[in-house]
Amino acid sequence: MDTNADRLRRLGSDAAIARVPVEERYRTLVDAIQDYAIFLLDPTGHIASWNAGAERIKGYHANEIIGQHFSVFYPADAIAQDYPNEELRRARALGRWEDEGWRIRKGGSRFWANVVITALHDDDGDLIGFAKVTRDLTERERLKQLEYASELASRVEATREEEKKRIARELHDDLGQQLTALKMIITGLLAEDSTTPEAQAYARERTQTMSHAVDHALASVRRLAAGLRPTMLDDLGLLPALDWLVTDFSRHTGLRVVLNCNTHTVAFNDTASTALFRIVQEGLTNVARHAPSATEVVIDLRCDPSNCELTIRNNGAVVTRSAEPAAGQPPSSGIAGIRERVRRLGGTFAAGPLAQGGYRIQISIPRRAIELDLPPG
Ligand SMILES: Nc1ncnc2c1ncn2[C@@H]1O[C@H](COP(=O)(O)OP(=O)(O)OP(=O)(O)O)[C@@H](O)[C@H]1O
Ligand SMILES: [Mg+2]
Repeated sequence: MDTNADRLRRLGSDAAIARVPVEERYRTLVDAIQDYAIFLLDPTGHIASWNAGAERIKGYHANEIIGQHFSVFYPADAIAQDYPNEELRRARALGRWEDEGWRIRKGGSRFWANVVITALHDDDGDLIGFAKVTRDLTERERLKQLEYASELASRVEATREEEKKRIARELHDDLGQQLTALKMIITGLLAEDSTTPEAQAYARERTQTMSHAVDHALASVRRLAAGLRPTMLDDLGLLPALDWLVTDFSRHTGLRVVLNCNTHTVAFNDTASTALFRIVQEGLTNVARHAPSATEVVIDLRCDPSNCELTIRNNGAVVTRSAEPAAGQPPSSGIAGIRERVRRLGGTFAAGPLAQGGYRIQISIPRRAIELDLPPG
């Protein structure tokens, strides 16, 4: 019997090809294809022809598979649902039916197949069978799944990184601020002459304040562990929380703080209210730390229909340059944290010394990012 190679050799010239009947030419072509299983089914789905690609992909020799029903290639659950015959019904109704799914090789192993079934009709329009072309896409599917797994892994990694940054920011903004306040009280106490009864009474009062501050810090640790969000905001809402912050700061530092808001009717979402609270907190702590000559801080929070603007401005000496962190100190993260919070809300940020003296932080956030429900940040 001729092999494909013999037949192709025989068809080696145009003239020779022309002498070969057209059916044989197609037969030879189909038989030579290795990467596709190409075969015919009779109208009831029994296999009527078989090519080399079918043998390679599905593992059966022509003489053991021709005459069998094509449902042998389907998994048991598909057969139980009569899916192979359903595919023929769809091919018959639509002319062509394409599908992807698991199929079974000889020996029971599975492969991921792309299947195209085309209904064949005679000149009178009667169904004479189906042409079925199957591709083995197992490798492509495996690569796709590997790609998906690695994309998933990098997404998990990015979320973890984001979470770490968030925890670092919360640690800085919450515990860091409270420890700074504590340090300021201690510094004040150390500078006091504690020999007079008045000074001792004052020291006792300040120690009480420190004890409360420690309670606050402990509550913060609990909060950090629980949900990384200042409970003050949950308990009071943004404006009362800002009022409390400002009053507390003023009491500790002796600075005059003016808070102007026109936002009593704005429904701040959780992300925005946390961000604004933290930004004001950082701005005030920076005044206490970096502007020793300041006497006043003015905070403006104003919303119009398209934007909300927050400005924190302190007076004081002209700031000639921003001090770099001392060698061995971690780089500062307060201003960077503000920038990041504003960026996440789609807003703009600027901060720097003022020509007339003092320092200003200015941010603007789109109103929709303030009011829409966003994931907490
Ligand atoms: N109100 C201010 N007046 C003068 N300088 C300021 C003021 N706010 C910030 N700065 C300058 O900007 C720098 C950066 O501020 P940032 O809050 O990022 O860092 P930090 O306060 O030094 O450290 P931390 O990371 O603890 O916040 C400060 O070191 C300081 O030099
Ligand atoms: Mg700071």
